[in-house]
Amino acid sequence: MYVVYLVQTIYLSRVIVGNDGQEITHLGMQANKINIAIDGFSSCGKSTMAKDLAKELGYTYIDSGAMYRAFALYAIRNGWITDAEMDEEALRKHVSNIRITFKPNEQGGQETYLNGENVEDTIRTLEVANGASRVSTLGFVRKELVHQQQQMGKEKGVVMDGRDIGTVVFPNAELKLFITAPAEIRAQRRFDEMKAKGENPPAYEEILANVKERDQRDTTRAESPLRKADDALELDNTHVDIKGQLQWALNMFHRITAKNG
Ligand code: DC
Repeated sequence: MYVVYLVQTIYLSRVIVGNDGQEITHLGMQANKINIAIDGFSSCGKSTMAKDLAKELGYTYIDSGAMYRAFALYAIRNGWITDAEMDEEALRKHVSNIRITFKPNEQGGQETYLNGENVEDTIRTLEVANGASRVSTLGFVRKELVHQQQQMGKEKGVVMDGRDIGTVVFPNAELKLFITAPAEIRAQRRFDEMKAKGENPPAYEEILANVKERDQRDTTRAESPLRKADDALELDNTHVDIKGQLQWALNMFHRITAKNG
């Protein structure tokens, strides 16, 4: 049996890679599989939930935020985003020219590649997160990335997390989850996570200010602002641990799939 992984390319069509590393160009409709959309604020634990859920169900996990981050990294490196401004013309010209792929790593997770370079760690910095939040306000960037994300979900069996998955990318997703927690809790978690990784985190206050700034931009931008889809199921995970939130998501999955037959 093939363990399949999805590799997304910005300018190539959809490609699937088997466990022998060979590219498979066609993947039949996944029997009885559904699409699962998980949206929520920055650093609310939705990626962890999405990854865990995909693993548990044998689905493909797609981190849509990593695509905005990879594009932002490319733009930062080329000097198209500075503290003061964004060169929109350059961004428009290059948005469909870069290649973003996801490939499995040895731990069973998945890593983001930009033009063949593994940028999984590089895109996790605050600078790139800010850049991603800024490029994601641009309609032409969203249009391109949303199109690619929709292609990835065509055959079902996808768990995708982001800000607009339940509202724009997969408005017909069979299961939509919306995750929240107060900014202070999310900033503390981010701080603790950086410390645990042996990184030298900025002051908690700085992280909190950054979280709030991104919340503000994500929820008030004109293009596809972050909002809960009317039919999404909501979880405030302030007092719920990683195991607990996975259990909640699995319960919601079983509830929906039992109802839909
Ligand atoms: O989830 P994340 O922190 O990796 O996302 C980085 C930024 O990308 C975030 O500030 C908002 C944006 N984003 C978006 O606008 N739409 C998505 N579907 C995913 C992320």
